[in-house]
Amino acid sequence: MMQLGLIGYPIQHSRSPWIHQAFMKQIKLDGKYQLFQIEPDQFDQGIRQLQTLDLDGFNVTIPFKQRIIDYLDQIDHFAEAIGAVNTVVCEKGKWIGYNTDGLGYVLGIRSSYPDLFAGNKQVLLLGAGGASRGIYYALLQENFDRIDIANRTTARAQELLSINTSNLSSDVMTYQEAAQQLNQYDLIINTTSVGMQPNLDKQVIALDGIKQNTVVSDIVYQPFWTALLKDAKQKGARVHHGHEMLLYQGKIAFEKWTGHRIDAEKIMPNFLNSILAET
Ligand code: ATR
Repeated sequence: MMQLGLIGYPIQHSRSPWIHQAFMKQIKLDGKYQLFQIEPDQFDQGIRQLQTLDLDGFNVTIPFKQRIIDYLDQIDHFAEAIGAVNTVVCEKGKWIGYNTDGLGYVLGIRSSYPDLFAGNKQVLLLGAGGASRGIYYALLQENFDRIDIANRTTARAQELLSINTSNLSSDVMTYQEAAQQLNQYDLIINTTSVGMQPNLDKQVIALDGIKQNTVVSDIVYQPFWTALLKDAKQKGARVHHGHEMLLYQGKIAFEKWTGHRIDAEKIMPNFLNSILAET
């Protein structure tokens, strides 16, 4: 029986149990996905306790994605470059850390909009926090012409550039500067928390001047229709909702734990219903 789980704080409202139970059901695997809520000031004791359980793997969420690194035996190059771990595989007593967030994002957007990956495309990332870091790094592995980063604090966006070891050009800019040249982007991604419940009417940037064919993508999934996505739709752009990244980061983690392949597309409609039921 597979023993899986999640550490973080707070985690009562996590969608991960739903996701991993659906995956287990799909491949008829017997297992459990448990929530281990750890108070941030009791992190060390919490992890020591976790080490006594015979887990096959676990997810790590806010605020522990960096702190878990000190407890790992190994970290893969992707998680190391991002400096954050969201998935731990427990193998023969060793803990190995991965980060599936950015790759999950890319799997999701690629499955919805494969044309974005055909070359000659320009990307604008809005935000330069932890989520942006993973997505930026994953996008750098693809064949985009440029990936620019706009952030409220431009120094933070500047820091993000250090994980770019490719030849691809990335400019850092303010939201005001980005707003002046929105028509050059094929994909615009909000990685900030702006627009998340309860700030339903907030959007990090107004979408005036975007091209009709541009895909506007929001990693916020509650609400399903963020103000940014409503604006995009109204301007005739294509939209990509935040729940996809969530399901696909789980798919990659689950496949690492179990070695089984998951058909996430099949689960997506039910997953969407579960998200909408909570909104
Ligand atoms: P996460 O790990 O979820 O990405 P984070 O590391 O705290 O969280 O990053 C949050 C991102 O949202 C940052 O880009 C942050 O901008 P700053 O770097 O300037 O702080 C952005 N953000 C959060 N609240 C914001 C707001 N009200 N307006 C604009 N940007 C905001």
